[in-house]
Amino acid sequence: MKHYLSINDIDSLTIWVDEAIALKKDPYQFKELGKQKTICLLFFNNSLRTRLSTQKAAMHLGMNVMVMNFGSEGWSLEYGDGTIMDQGTSEHVKEAAQVVSQYCDIVAIRAFAKLIDKSKDEAEEVLNGFAKYATIPIVNMESSIAHPLQALADAITLKEFQPKTKPKVVLSWAPHPKALPHAVANSFVEMMKLQDAEFVITHPKGYELNPEITTGCKIEYDQDKALENADFVYVKNWSSYVDYGNVLTLDSGWKITKEKLGHAKFMHCLPVRRNVVVEDAVLDGDQSLVIEQANNRTYSAQIVLKKLLEKL
Ligand code: CP
Repeated sequence: MKHYLSINDIDSLTIWVDEAIALKKDPYQFKELGKQKTICLLFFNNSLRTRLSTQKAAMHLGMNVMVMNFGSEGWSLEYGDGTIMDQGTSEHVKEAAQVVSQYCDIVAIRAFAKLIDKSKDEAEEVLNGFAKYATIPIVNMESSIAHPLQALADAITLKEFQPKTKPKVVLSWAPHPKALPHAVANSFVEMMKLQDAEFVITHPKGYELNPEITTGCKIEYDQDKALENADFVYVKNWSSYVDYGNVLTLDSGWKITKEKLGHAKFMHCLPVRRNVVVEDAVLDGDQSLVIEQANNRTYSAQIVLKKLLEKL
């Protein structure tokens, strides 16, 4: 693995999950591996979990950590080839990526979808720009279309709490007042395609995810039907993919309630809007796994960094 850009960069999800669970039991067992190595975390967007868990993971491995809020503190970057840079951008990613590569051994990047131009978002200009011109491994800390550190943490959580060998896992859309990207849902779907599970996606019509990602997955437009006998309910809002970046409905009937959840475990990547996406009773109840998921972000990042460090 040269970079960690997608959950599909993992050669065996089962092995990685087991290794991550072993790391969780003894987080400092590889504290010499990252000695005199530096990771640089570049944030073009806000974060709580990704920022702190990735730093913690790196520190468990003995790495030095540098963090930059590139979106507010860095020069505005140009990505196009041959652009006459006489407008707003100050520095080309060609130089920026090569310069960053001299200061660290691994660079991790967060750069969300802008949800204005689908083809631009799908081109992943920030992540791919760095991957093209950097000379060191890149880790995706959530890009326009993928959040593979979250999906790996979710796989760890599923393994830790699975009640049976082939659980039923439902990915349910939920309402949200703002237009949100597809990255978490995309990577969750890609991760579930690697699992031995009954997997169902449910959302209102018009909220179909990229069909190239959901190909082969069961889609059920009736949320109640989808939730029947679920073992895990993973809830996430995303904006329309077909009517790109638009909010088509705020139907509160899709909000997850204790009654809808039944006996299932509740999962969400956080941050979550209480009583819009999910009611308090679910988040505050003992079926919620959201805090465990956030904890597993450390070990998903740690297994990724360990694999990359072993190749340096
Ligand atoms: N789930 C997640 O990525 O959280 P942050 O946006 O706070 O990093």
